[in-house]
Parts: sequence; C-alpha cells; structure tokens
Amino acid sequence: MVDLSVKLAKVHLPNPLINASGIYGSDIPDIIKTAEAKTGAVLYKTTTIEERNGNKVPRYWQDELFALNSIGLPNKGYKYLIQITPEVKQKTTKPMITSLLGFSFEEYITLCKAYNDSAVDIIEVNFSCPNIEGKPQAAYNFEYLPKLMKACREAAPDKPLFAKLPAYLDPSQRKMVAKMLIDSKFQGVTLINSLGESLLVNAKTEKTYIRPNNGLAGLTGKAIKPVALGNVWGFYNLLKDSGIQIMGVGGIECGLDVFEFILCGADAVQIGTAYIRQGTAVFEKMENELIQIMNEKGYTSLNDFRGKLKIWGD
Ligand SMILES: Cc1cc2nc3c(=O)[nH]c(=O)nc-3n(C[C@H](O)[C@H](O)[C@H](O)COP(=O)(O)O)c2cc1C
Repeated sequence: MVDLSVKLAKVHLPNPLINASGIYGSDIPDIIKTAEAKTGAVLYKTTTIEERNGNKVPRYWQDELFALNSIGLPNKGYKYLIQITPEVKQKTTKPMITSLLGFSFEEYITLCKAYNDSAVDIIEVNFSCPNIEGKPQAAYNFEYLPKLMKACREAAPDKPLFAKLPAYLDPSQRKMVAKMLIDSKFQGVTLINSLGESLLVNAKTEKTYIRPNNGLAGLTGKAIKPVALGNVWGFYNLLKDSGIQIMGVGGIECGLDVFEFILCGADAVQIGTAYIRQGTAVFEKMENELIQIMNEKGYTSLNDFRGKLKIWGD
C-alpha cells in the first residue's frame, strides 16, 4: 500500500499535489472545485492590498510546449480571502495556503500580519511576480530581499512561511538566497515562478501574442521543467540539512514529472499550466500515475526516494 501523505511544516496533506498560485484559487467556487479534486491542499491566487483588475488582454497564450502570461495579479484584495477562509474551511478539510505580494516593504508587512491572524494554514510570500510593469522582482534584489524576509518572518510568527522565488541561473545567487532563507527562518521555498521577460512571436501576423509590457511575459508549461528541476535540485543540496522544505513547480504535467521533482528533493509539487489545460482531472491522473511508478519501483512512501537523485557515474 502506497502512502502519498506529506507534512509541510506541521500541516498534513493527503498527497503532495497542489494547484499553483494563480490557477483556480481566487474565489469560493474555484477554491472548492480545487479542494474537491485530488489535491493535497489548495493554494490561493496571489493577493495584494488593493483589489486589482490586472493587465490588458490578450494576457495569456498557450500551445503544447509553452504558455505565456502577463496577467498582472488581478485579485479581489487580501481582505476578501481572509473573510472567506472560515466559510471555505466549513466545506473542506484540505489545508488552505495563501499567497501575498506587497508593492512596498510596508505592504508586505501589513499582508503578513493580516494573514498571520487569519484561518489560513500556510503563507506563500510571492517575491517573484514578473508581470507588474515598473516593479522589479524583490527576489532579484539581493540587498532588499534578506531584510524583507526577516521582516515578513517577524510579522507572521505563527504561520509557516514559504518564499515563492524565480529561477536563479547562477549558483552564487542560489547560495545567497539559501542563506537568507535559513537566516530568516522560513519553513519553505517554492520554486519556480514564471520565467519572466520571455517572448513568443507569431510569425504569421508578425505580432506578439501578449499585449502588456511590450509583449514580454512569464513563460510556463512543459518547456520550463528543466529549469525548475535544476532550481529544486540546486536548492535541495543547499537546504537539506536545514529542515527548509521545497515545493517544486514548473512544467509538471504527469505522474512521472511529479516523481522526478520529488527525486530532486521536492516535498510537494504545484501544478499550474497543466491544470489550466487538463482541468481538475489532472490531479487524479497524476496521483494514479505516481502510485503506479512507486509500485513498479517498490516504494511505499515519498521519503523512500525524496532527494535521492543519483549522479551519472557515481
Ligand atoms: C495564468 C497564470 C497566473 C499566475 N498567477 C500567479 C500568481 O498570482 N502568483 C504566483 O506566485 N504565481 C503565479 N503564476 C505562476 C505559477 O504559480 C507557476 O509558478 C508557473 O506557472 C509555473 O508552473 P507551471 O509550468 O505548472 O504553470 C501564474 C501562472 C499562470 C500561468
């Protein structure tokens, strides 16, 4: 009998499959729909202080390999999600993870404080939205980020904190950020957000697919899996003795992908573009495929293979 359960901080999840932030986690019907699917927890769309409409359309495009988005964080504001969480919790026993992003240091603190006193189980702090014009990602500002992480920690002492980070493409950056996570006592890290500043060109019309930000947007979907896996494996090797957990996200489409992320050190995984493309059935399909792979390999729990990727030649 295979056991897929996992603990994120002290929060129990029946399986490691979670919707990625931004995908069906904005209001009660979407949250319940995601909770009723074969998910282990539900992750809310990133919330900001004020309600936002997001960017102009077209702001999303997808094909088999890629998806490109510049949604611009449309959301009803954090107070709405704090208000509905007790009602959501009467309808489902699944843990609720919120996501927040501040447009200033003070806004991050206000949001962390408010969610600390709310009914959510875990807070994912989004340091890495690539789609707000004129607002650089906090996660690439290596002087600002450690101060911000520590302040978030102080503002939310009672909830597990996960940092949602972008891809880092240089090991020196990864080392700096791993130290910041340890120093600021975050419980976890979510890797990776959309690959910002990406461009897809429609050669037929000679136009961009996306309207905001001069056509530049965040890349997601199957094509970004190797970058996500590299970040998960890279951070796992720096964090494995610290107790800091990892949620892997980026291009996960099937049970085999889930297996690979856990093998590279992920404690749980998030599914974004594949949830948009395949609907709620994607979670049951992934769960069944993962169970089949584990049965074939003789594994009975995720701990049997988590982080146990072998290097060719060893
Ligand atoms: C339409 C869309 C909206 C998104 N909105 C958010 C968001 O609000 N907050 C966030 O942290 N990430 C957001 N993301 C990024 C996803 O959470 C995830 O990191 C990324 O899509 C990579 O996973 P995937 O390849 O499975 O889609 C969004 C992605 C998409 C496609």
